[in-house]
Amino acid sequence: MSTEPDVSVQQGSISDAAADAVVVNLFEGVRMPGGATGAVDAALNGLLSQAIADGEITGRLYETTVIHTGGRIRARRVVVVGLGRAEEFNLVRARRAAGAAARTARRAGARSLATIVHGAGIGGLEPEAAARATVEGTLTGLYAFTRYRTRGQDGGGRRVESLVVVEHSAGKIAAFERAARQAQVMARATNRARDWTNMPPNDMHPGTLAETAAEVARSCGLELEIIAGEQLLAAGMGALYAVGQASQHAPRLIRLAYRGREAGGIDLALVGKGVTFDSGGLCLKPGDAMDWMKADMAGAAAVLAAAEAVAALRPALNVTFLIPAVENLPGGRAFKPNDVLRTLDGRTIEVLNTDAEGRLILADAVAKAAADGAARIVDIATLTGAAIVALGHEASALISTDDDLAAAVERASAACGERVWRLPAWPEYREQFKSEIADLKNTGGRAAGTITGALIIGTFAGSVPWAHLDIAGTAWHDRGKPWADAGATGVGAAALAQLCLDLAG
Ligand code: BES
Ligand code: MN
Ligand code: ZN
Repeated sequence: MSTEPDVSVQQGSISDAAADAVVVNLFEGVRMPGGATGAVDAALNGLLSQAIADGEITGRLYETTVIHTGGRIRARRVVVVGLGRAEEFNLVRARRAAGAAARTARRAGARSLATIVHGAGIGGLEPEAAARATVEGTLTGLYAFTRYRTRGQDGGGRRVESLVVVEHSAGKIAAFERAARQAQVMARATNRARDWTNMPPNDMHPGTLAETAAEVARSCGLELEIIAGEQLLAAGMGALYAVGQASQHAPRLIRLAYRGREAGGIDLALVGKGVTFDSGGLCLKPGDAMDWMKADMAGAAAVLAAAEAVAALRPALNVTFLIPAVENLPGGRAFKPNDVLRTLDGRTIEVLNTDAEGRLILADAVAKAAADGAARIVDIATLTGAAIVALGHEASALISTDDDLAAAVERASAACGERVWRLPAWPEYREQFKSEIADLKNTGGRAAGTITGALIIGTFAGSVPWAHLDIAGTAWHDRGKPWADAGATGVGAAALAQLCLDLAG
């Protein structure tokens, strides 16, 4: 993992900051910058407003411009990031703009950054949330997955070593320091999840995922249990076992537990789909559809990263983290269409498609959470291509049978700049996955594929309040963005940790 910059908060004027680059911003259509950007412009004798007048700086969303200061202020460079139209501004954009600015500053060779908080002024955002978005966006923007490069890195391996948030009003410093600390933990969770998800499947298989979880448990002081291979069958988890049975890497159920309060049972179970590679099994995917199926454990990565963040933030809540880990492969030992599998809660599932494997392994893991007495269950999975059809890459699909839990997931996601959109969970959809010969089948057809896939999993929560995040559209970017490299996004890691904080009150 790329080493993280130090983060601090300082009271003063951004024009006086001693950093290689200072980051300021501009809304689209603004001719005369005000606030901190205006102060920097004044210190530069109008260099910025001149560039605006010349049409070189427009304030368009995520546009970045590097201006050399020629010794007029202490910093050698100013990076101006465009925030787009003021009336469309929000926390998602604040976070991304911070990432875009930091990446440009790094490209320009800056090793130390000073930034203002984006959007707390005319952006109208709540200042502490804006500060958190600025720091989180910077730290996630600077993420790079470099461990498989042996011959130098893009940009000559340039690295930002420090970030200072500069704020002129003394009254905001305490809140910004709080925001910066929380942002560091959340960004670390996001970037950890990205690291694990970006790992190639020959190095990240059920065995190494279990080792990774064991390492997390050891370093964070969490309880750890791993049920592997034939033990899964003996324990009654026939669906999880079946999906993994063709791989040379035995399937596993990984469980970590965090205790944040003395008495009481499990307040929340977080369950993440851990398919370390999804070939589709005997219902083999076409080659190009397998392109990024190493990322089919993005849900597991989010849950594991959330476990680390929760251990660092110590909310007063008891949480278990469950990861069913398998490699879904074809072969002579593979499970087949028409097989009937027996799950932990005694129900039977008829397999119609071996590529609908996520719901099978999550059925057992969610049933385990319910059997262990969890008061709430949230699962997260790259479950369906249909989620991409419905929402594209901008939002995760949320399906839940419990309005309070769904609202809590929505709130936690929003606080982390992650978009979720709730789809209905009407019982009528259940008709679609009734089986002729077993209790249910593992596909509900093309119609409402994201909902039926989710509800198959939800069945195994029984009467426990349950929510499901389908991150098939949000876990991966095919192409780089102004605010992030291509690859894993780490979606859900911060939001799940935030959910634990929120539920602890
Ligand atoms: N891991 C895939 C879902 C997926 C597809 C995630 C594309 C990201 C991008 C999942 O296991 C799968 O194959 N789902 C099938 C289900 C179908 C067979 C009912 C799908 O979505 O096509
Ligand atoms: Mn699949
Ligand atoms: Zn899958």
